[in-house]
Amino acid sequence: MQKERKCWLGLVAILVSVSLSGPLNGQQSLPNDSLKNVFRGDFLIGTALNTRQINATDGSTDELIKQQFNAITAENAMKAQVIHPRWGQFDFDAADRFVAYGNRAGMYTVGHTLIWHSQLPAFVQAITQADSLRQFMELHIRTVAQRYTSSIDSWDVVNEALNEDGSWRESVFYNVLGEDYIIEAFRMAAEAAPKAKLYYNDFNIERPRKRAGAIRLIKKLQAAGVRIDGVGIQGHWHIGKIPLDDIEQSILEYSALGLEVAITELDLEVLPRNFQGADINRRMVANDPALNPYVNGLPDSVQQQLAADYGRLFRLFLKHREHISRVTFWGVNDGHSWLNHWPVRGRTNYPLVFDRDNRPKEAFFKIIDTKKAP
Ligand code: G3I
Repeated sequence: MQKERKCWLGLVAILVSVSLSGPLNGQQSLPNDSLKNVFRGDFLIGTALNTRQINATDGSTDELIKQQFNAITAENAMKAQVIHPRWGQFDFDAADRFVAYGNRAGMYTVGHTLIWHSQLPAFVQAITQADSLRQFMELHIRTVAQRYTSSIDSWDVVNEALNEDGSWRESVFYNVLGEDYIIEAFRMAAEAAPKAKLYYNDFNIERPRKRAGAIRLIKKLQAAGVRIDGVGIQGHWHIGKIPLDDIEQSILEYSALGLEVAITELDLEVLPRNFQGADINRRMVANDPALNPYVNGLPDSVQQQLAADYGRLFRLFLKHREHISRVTFWGVNDGHSWLNHWPVRGRTNYPLVFDRDNRPKEAFFKIIDTKKAP
């Protein structure tokens, strides 16, 4: 009898310890709080998915994604180079799996991106005739956006069309079609994806000069009578240098144009860099170890700075939550971030709120705290 009782007690103890320590897959426990639940009613909380995450190859990461986020963006799977590698030949494999993931999990699903100068297949870069480029845009936007008309909730229609001074970036689209290419792109997207939100998405457009350019661009679309629903401020910022006033001013100015604002690619750089933004054509030379100082872990002072900056940002987002539709992190955990490979290859970076083992960092708790003591 005694022995049997002990057995039961032992079993109960095991069950309690398993439920406290998390899932039975040998991984650490998931956090108690969930970003998507804490900010429900304020804005969506998203993440970008890479191919392995779309394929759910890592159970722990998959669980974390579903626990923490209610919106997903394709980090690379829908870019023209991947989805439309040769004229008229489409490869929907990864994109189909991405939208299926969103459908299965009931997540808000963001298409990124229809028209972008980067990750563009070589055949598009080589086009010099206006008619041909227009034909490409029509074929590309119509084919891709119509295919996902019932599964993509929001499209980044045009990505990164501006230079830092607010002038037009001299992409193949601008060079061949002039600035009206943006009107054509949004008109085509509105026809092909009548139910999806249509966004203009760019980095550094909180900064005054680039913001002025973005406002000109938006007004141009509005004057032409084409639909634009929102503006995506990407949010690739640096710890200790978050332009909070510029961000606040931008939220106010963009929303005054009748648009919703999303933070679409949030991450905070902690490593040394001599410029800000996300222009992937810019790189730094890698052979200086001083550029990769935290290979063995992030010092506590930097961890605290990262946490404090995330806290300040979310406090600001909450203050303007009626204008903000979504805040999307550019990656799930630190190990997945593109910032480990850019602008210097092979660095150990820490820009997100979950560590390489999917454990919540100090920044995660600071973000949650903004709801407890706004
Ligand atoms: O898929 C190929 C693989 O086959 C090849 O072996 C490998 C060799 O380098 O490259 C792989 O492609 C890489 C791709 O990511 C997928 O991992 C590309 O080299 C690499 O350049 C590409 O980087 C992406 C970058 O955009 C390129 O445009 C990043 O993952 C992605 O996070 C980043 O995202 C952009 C947003 O779309 C727009 N805003 C800025 C943001 C950061 O640059």
